[in-house]
Amino acid sequence: MAKLYYEPQDAAAVLAGGGLLAFGTETVYGLGADARDGGAVARIFAAKGRPQFNPLIIHVFDREEAGRIATFSAAADRLSARFWPGPLTLILPLRPGHGLSPLVSAGLPTVAVRVPAHPGAQALLRAFGGPVAAPSANPSGRISPTRAVHVMASLGDRIDGVLEGGAATVGLESTIVVPGPPPILARAGGVAEVALAAALGQPLGRPEVGAAVTAPGQLLSHYAPAAALRMDANAPRSGEFMIGFGPVAGDITLSKVGDLIEAAATLFDALHTADATRRPIAVAPIPEVGLGQAINDRLRRAAAG
Ligand code: TXA
Ligand code: MG
Repeated sequence: MAKLYYEPQDAAAVLAGGGLLAFGTETVYGLGADARDGGAVARIFAAKGRPQFNPLIIHVFDREEAGRIATFSAAADRLSARFWPGPLTLILPLRPGHGLSPLVSAGLPTVAVRVPAHPGAQALLRAFGGPVAAPSANPSGRISPTRAVHVMASLGDRIDGVLEGGAATVGLESTIVVPGPPPILARAGGVAEVALAAALGQPLGRPEVGAAVTAPGQLLSHYAPAAALRMDANAPRSGEFMIGFGPVAGDITLSKVGDLIEAAATLFDALHTADATRRPIAVAPIPEVGLGQAINDRLRRAAAG
């Protein structure tokens, strides 16, 4: 069972040790892990039972920290100056040398960043001193948690700790904005659209149906490799670059020991490496269980593109 923490300093050690820590924010409780640790991020997906690798929100304690992982346009600067810390998430281009696991952004060139205002979350992020990836701390498809007991009841047996943060005051997820120009409202949430439009001096658009921001999974087809990708391959055909798993060896492997968490953590790097060769790609069979579902979902998209 997850340990309940009351001190942010103590809870930060869970993150530093590569563990999963749920923590209260002003919006909803987040399920956090060190965003630079691919294995820890993979365990977020495993704990939530997510059948897809949706990109996750990165939590940092201030604008300067955010500037280490993402680049800010003038519009992004205006929004962060006005609404951070607070319930606003910005989708920004990843900055070179960001150090995040590619699993965090599902291999996309952008990252969702937020600076929570909750004092406990602030203290946790300062004590930890690094970027924390955190989706809402609920099992996939269930209601977002606004109290520690909600997290304990639904995920308590799958995570390492919960930092008590009281009842969430906003109780609704953060508003997600692509600053643009043109600015796009990707998800309504804790910051009202009128306030955003006032700060930007222009109205916000909506994502195109099926666009990256409404359904990030869809964008993955944009990241289809240059050449064909073949799944369930037990050996490479002539000219193919082989990505192995478990007993099926390759030019590289997702996990030599057949560990699905390790495979999830290495998946996007492996696809980039394979794509850089411009050769057709073959991928070993991945069992359709646990994180294998999300891995196969990603591979099917790559194969279809
Ligand atoms: O209030 C919140 O935002 C909470 C607390 C814990 O901070 N977090 C939260 O995370 O709601 P989550 O994972 O449940 O929702 C994140 C949303 C997803 O819909 C995801 O698709 C989108 O953000 N997202 C993340 N990165 C993205 C990116 N690079 N491009 C487009 N959408 C992105
Ligand atoms: Mg959620």
